[in-house]
This record gives sequence, C-alpha cells and structure tokens, in this order.
Amino acid sequence: EGLEKGSFEWSAPSNIALVKYWGKKEHQIPANPSVSFTLNNCKTVTKLSFVKKESDNGFSFDLLFEGKEKETFKPKIQKFFERIESYCPYLKNYHFTIDTLNTFPHSSGIASSASGMAALAMNIMNLEKTLNPEMEESYFYSKASFLARLGSGSACRSVKGNVVVWGAHKEIEGSTDLFGITFPETIHDVFNNYQDTILLVDKGEKQVSSTVGHDLMHGHPFAEQRFEQAHENLSKIKTILQNGDLENFIKVVESEALILHAVMMTSVPYYILMKPNTLEIINRIWKYRSETGVPVCFTLDAGANVHVLYPQQVKEKVLEFIQQELVGYCQNSQYICDEIGKGSEKI
Ligand code: PMV
Repeated sequence: EGLEKGSFEWSAPSNIALVKYWGKKEHQIPANPSVSFTLNNCKTVTKLSFVKKESDNGFSFDLLFEGKEKETFKPKIQKFFERIESYCPYLKNYHFTIDTLNTFPHSSGIASSASGMAALAMNIMNLEKTLNPEMEESYFYSKASFLARLGSGSACRSVKGNVVVWGAHKEIEGSTDLFGITFPETIHDVFNNYQDTILLVDKGEKQVSSTVGHDLMHGHPFAEQRFEQAHENLSKIKTILQNGDLENFIKVVESEALILHAVMMTSVPYYILMKPNTLEIINRIWKYRSETGVPVCFTLDAGANVHVLYPQQVKEKVLEFIQQELVGYCQNSQYICDEIGKGSEKI
C-alpha cells in the first residue's frame, strides 16, 4: 500500500500455435483448446514505471513505443486496463508510463499482440506481487497468463515456455480456458531447441484482424466440426510430443495450418490470406521433404508468412535449403531465425 513509485521491466516472447485457436466466446474464452511453441528471439520488452496518484480519476498512462509517444496503440491498452480492472483494483491508484519495444522488425507481419500483452501482464503482476509479497509463484504466473488472455487470447501462451496448452482438454491435466499452462508431460528430446524460421512473405498490415477473424466462427457452417477436430488434434499432439514421432507431428501441424486458412476461405465474408509465394514455399517444402527425408514442415498464422519448423539436428541443412530455395519468395529476402524458448523474463 505504501508503494509510492517505481518501475519494472519484463520481456515476453511471441509464440507459434501447433493446434490453432480460432473462434472464441465471451470474455476471451476460446472455442477450442490450442497448443503452441513459445519462441525465443521474437520478443517484446516493456518497462512499466508507476507513480502513486493523489486521487482516483480513472486509468492514466503514457505510452512510448521505441522511445516515442505512440497514440495509435493507446486505445488497445485502455481497453485492456478496463477489462482487467476488476481483477487489479490497485491499477487506478497509479499513473503509468509504458515504454515498449519489439526485437523483431515493426510491421513485419509478425503479430506483436501476444508478446506485447504478455510483457505488460508480467509487469502488472510484478506490481501486484510487490503490494502482496506473500503471493505464491504459481498464482503469479497463472494470473499473469489470465490477464494476458484478456489483452489478446494467444498472449496467455507467451508467459511460460516451452510448450503451452490453453483451453480445457480432457486428456491434458490442469488445462483450463482461463490461462495457459506448460505442457504437463515430459517432452521428447527431438523437440529440444526445435527451430522456427519465419519467412516474411508479406509484411503489410493484416487483412483481417484476429478480432474479426474469431467472429467469423460464429455461425460458420463448419464451426462445430472444427472445434471437435481441434480436440482430436490436441490428443494426437499430446502423444507425439512425448514419443517424438515427427512423421505424425508434421501431419497434424501442417493440417492445422491449412484448416485455419480453409475456415477463413469458407467464412461469410470469405478471405484468402495466403499469397502466391506462400503456396510456392509450401510446395518447395513438400518437394524437399520427399526428396531428402528431412523432417521439415510449415505452419501459418492468420497471414501470408510461413513458419518453417524443424529439429535442431538438421538446422544446417535446412538453412541451406531456405537460403537457396525459399528466400527468393520473401519480401526483401527477409526471414527471422527463431527457436523454442522459455517464456517471459524479468530484466
Ligand atoms: O490472440 P489472437 O486473438 O490474436 O488470435 C491468434 C490466432 C492465431 O494466431 C491465428 C492462432 C493461434 O492460436 O495463435
């Protein structure tokens, strides 16, 4: 209570879903469970400074992005504060300065909402823990993920590493719609340092915001089958993550990426978010895999960029393949090398 002013700084990474979250209910409750690899290099770093206020006159904060005032991001943060208000009543007692930057290029087509909301949630929980020092560590991380979820659904999977499940699933112990949990079983060694090379095919603004995208699942003709299928694919991935069966890993992961795009193509209104180069890359990956047997596969988010996933053991070979055959399909030859990582960190 006596805390007058101070600051914290946290980083949080992006994540890439293997089984996709697409469709939600009220209060950011997912329509189906999802699972993701937490990334390591694509991060948001956020410093939260706070000063106690004289009177409670609502939320007040300044927002700096890469050191400069950024008005355009403010409504999103304002909305986030309003959504978490009842869970964090102490927020109104302070004026905040949120100073944030991403380690990946701005408007690269990589969504920064997951890493950004997770980094902010960590800072807020750091403040709460300072006000309430007895707080248990498990509560700290669960509530951070719970708050991040209210900022952006997939952000709740960016608090912890290395594989995170969000959404209640009957075979995954402790799984809940309310926050992300670390995959509770032992993961096969083949997934240690698993690689994700992100090919930047189209760096433009998103054609469909994820808010609009999730809404398209309301009344979607295939919605129920899709949600059921996500449960089945999560069951399969659960087994695969434990036994290291890469052949089936590839089948589930690529299928999930194509399903995500298939439901967008069959929504009302409909969208095609892949670009010609996205398809070229997919075909090249399939050809390379069938010719060499190297277990490399792709996944996609709600956009044209391609995430190339492969074990660390084949990194050299795959990077050579990417440089020789795939880079030409990227905008300005740009790609980002990332890998599975540990989650948010205090700086
Ligand atoms: O967190 P949101 O609302 O931006 O939704 C993200 C949805 C996908 O990235 C397409 C899939 C996922 O599970 O991350």
